[in-house]
Amino acid sequence: MKLAMTLFVFCFFCSSALGQSSESEDGPLLEGRKVAAAFMQELKGELEQAIAAAGPVSGIGVCQSKAPAIAARLSVETGWKVGRTSLRVRNPGNAPDRWEKVILEDFDRRRFQGTAPQELEVLEIVEKDGGKVLRYMKAIPTGEICLLCHGAVLAPGVVDELSRRYPQDKARGYKPGEIRGAFTLSRPEKGEGNK
Ligand code: HEC
Repeated sequence: MKLAMTLFVFCFFCSSALGQSSESEDGPLLEGRKVAAAFMQELKGELEQAIAAAGPVSGIGVCQSKAPAIAARLSVETGWKVGRTSLRVRNPGNAPDRWEKVILEDFDRRRFQGTAPQELEVLEIVEKDGGKVLRYMKAIPTGEICLLCHGAVLAPGVVDELSRRYPQDKARGYKPGEIRGAFTLSRPEKGEGNK
């Protein structure tokens, strides 16, 4: 019964993401993937550089300032509103809305059932304030480098700096391969006359 439910949910999401992929739907899916990949690549590059140069404590400031800066620039460049979210946020400003929370919970469920985190994504048209919004989310797996600031055992300097900047931090204690969060993208849906 539980398996049947999961299969249903999985198929529901894959049909929204892939099943209806006529030419007109392929575009946004590929775009979403590209924007998420660009965000990941740029932020990871900045982070690795800062950590290599001056250690993980200096990476904390980079993450705090660069992540929103990259998101803002990508939003202007691509027309997608871009951000990051998680079920256990470090920055309360990244907390998920209701739709995002449902998707994140589903990502965790699907990972538990054996789907690779790299494959977890959703594209869906969502009603919002009487209009339609196209939304895309892609899971972010926890890699080795992430553990320096999101793992179970952190260097004392990292703990102090995180506690100073993020007194409500919930984003510690992750294990490699767990889903740390997701990229979240949205834009007004222009197709079908926005009816
Ligand atoms: C040097 C410390 C550091 C490392 C390493 C690090 N992060 Fe973070 N992470 C942070 C900080 C600081 C924030 C809060 C940023 C902000 O204020 O928006 C954060 C926030 C996030 C968020 C946004 C949701 C939230 O919790 O607020 C995600 C998703 C995330 N990190 C994923 C990762 C992943 C994946 C990796 C590994 C590739 C990683 N982080 C590596 C420090 C780090």
